[in-house]
Amino acid sequence: MCGIVGYVGPRDCTDVLIDALSKLEYRGYDSAGIAVFDNGKISVAKSKGRLKDLENKMETEGRPQGHAGIGHTRWATHGEPSDINSHPHSGKRVTIVHNGIIENYKKLKDFLVKQGKNFLSETDTEVVAQLLDYYYDGNPLETIIKTVHELEGSYALGIVFADFPDTVYAVRMESPLIIGKGEGESFIASDVPAILKYTKDYYLLEHGEVAMLNRNGVKFYDIHKREIEKELKTADWDMDAAEKGGFEHFMLKEIHEQPESIKKTIAPRISDGLPCLEECGITPEKLKSFDKIYIVACGTAMHAGMVGKYVIEKLARVPVVVDIASEFRYRDPLLTDKDLVIIISQSGETADSLAAMRLSKKLGAQTLAIVNAKGSSIAREADMLIYTHAGPEIAVASTKAYMVQIAVMYLLAFELALASGAIDESQCRQLTALLQSTPELIEKILEEKKQAQYIASKLITADSLLYIGRGLDYALSMEGSLKLKEISYIHSESYAAGELKHGTISLISDGMPVIAVATQTALFDKTISNIKEVKARGAKVVIVCRNGYEPEKDVADYKFGLPDIDDILMPMTAVVPLQLIAYYTSVLRGNDVDKPRNLAKSVTVE
Ligand code: F6R
Repeated sequence: MCGIVGYVGPRDCTDVLIDALSKLEYRGYDSAGIAVFDNGKISVAKSKGRLKDLENKMETEGRPQGHAGIGHTRWATHGEPSDINSHPHSGKRVTIVHNGIIENYKKLKDFLVKQGKNFLSETDTEVVAQLLDYYYDGNPLETIIKTVHELEGSYALGIVFADFPDTVYAVRMESPLIIGKGEGESFIASDVPAILKYTKDYYLLEHGEVAMLNRNGVKFYDIHKREIEKELKTADWDMDAAEKGGFEHFMLKEIHEQPESIKKTIAPRISDGLPCLEECGITPEKLKSFDKIYIVACGTAMHAGMVGKYVIEKLARVPVVVDIASEFRYRDPLLTDKDLVIIISQSGETADSLAAMRLSKKLGAQTLAIVNAKGSSIAREADMLIYTHAGPEIAVASTKAYMVQIAVMYLLAFELALASGAIDESQCRQLTALLQSTPELIEKILEEKKQAQYIASKLITADSLLYIGRGLDYALSMEGSLKLKEISYIHSESYAAGELKHGTISLISDGMPVIAVATQTALFDKTISNIKEVKARGAKVVIVCRNGYEPEKDVADYKFGLPDIDDILMPMTAVVPLQLIAYYTSVLRGNDVDKPRNLAKSVTVE
């Protein structure tokens, strides 16, 4: 969602802000803006659209010049994307950028209107700017603290006061914010990639903390205005992580990074050929002590949970419920202290997933987070934590994060199955070795990407299509369908192949594409029958199946073949062609693959 940056130092501030914002583009945005101290005065430039629209505007209307300022990419929540609604927003003496939502903005706005304040935009952000202005008494820290006491919601702010040139303030109330520390310069940012070009050293602002950046460095304060010391952290990501490295898009780069991401994620959790999650606070005894497992997440992460459900239930014989976080948190879930709630999240900041985890803890369940972003809120608050090591995922459409999420699901399932006696040690070793062999198989699949491109070329004119499969193939179809629709903008649905006859098959018309995933040996014949049913009604069928199967004309028009591996591990490989097909379809339709319309990478609002 929205991205915040800020800079104080000797470089050209506008250059730094625009460059840092470009590294946050992946979060999704529809307008951008900056505020820079130009000859001691705050100069604002903002525009609807992409950063290049802002650059163009500055070329004609003037480019702020200075050495301190704040910047923002906005993902519209209150009011449409427009120049006026773009950040920064100002009161008379205060200018701010904002990430998150102010829940009580309406009440505050009514109050401020009564006090004679005028509003230009429809945003909740302008209410904060005006409230800061209302409380301003010449002391920025006092003013900020007084103001945040009045605000409800999760948010982060970057603030400049006209009376304090070349000084930038930042405050975090839930929404993440980091403070970068370079040689004689400092930064604020919503995420580490924004500042990696300048420094790897940063402080993680905690909830309720304020930072003040000026030429002398950075000072931190708690909510009681007491100065505090903070621990300097060093990012273990290098610059390459935030660059495309020769690939046309981040998404393609990230698809290719999957073998490496799997190795990095599973290697430290395998000891003597068996899964070992003790360093994550998970012992076999603890794992088997739960009666039931809930997996709660959103979007792609929830689809990873679907794979987890099939695998854990099949191998460990423990019931697993998968829930969408936004539903789970409001449906009064039946949890006890005998339940384990697994929260899966790439960003670790998804508002609904975080709320679902807090609710689970409140109801007495144990929580285990599977998170990619280090130090994120979900990671810090969970009882147990398994970090996935995919590195930063920049493309909005998640690929490598999903891959490592399911890799962790396998490790958990193997360990739980062994602990509960559902499989023996030699079966567990065998399964673990198979999991370790998947990176190599994925490399082989990536060599066949031209076939995915060819299949994509047959889909680009479709208005709508279906993904079908049974069992684990159905779980995978959900992810294939989401990937395609989010970046190609072609409508698609996933269906359990056996469910088609109960209504959906009436949608099939001549030439409608159906992507059938058929990797599960035990269900193969049944799936083929379902495929024949749609083929007989005119569907154009793409089958994703094992290399050994050659479909007859009455089954499929196009095939993507996969190397052999045990049924249970097929999702690790079969998802790759689905990702590639979605990717190439989006490219061929000329879409903005890495930044699909209306979407944000990190969904920090409900
Ligand atoms: C789709 C996608 C989203 C996320 C979802 C959860 O490609 O990326 O569906 O999976 O927004 O995000 P995290 O994993 O950050 O909680």
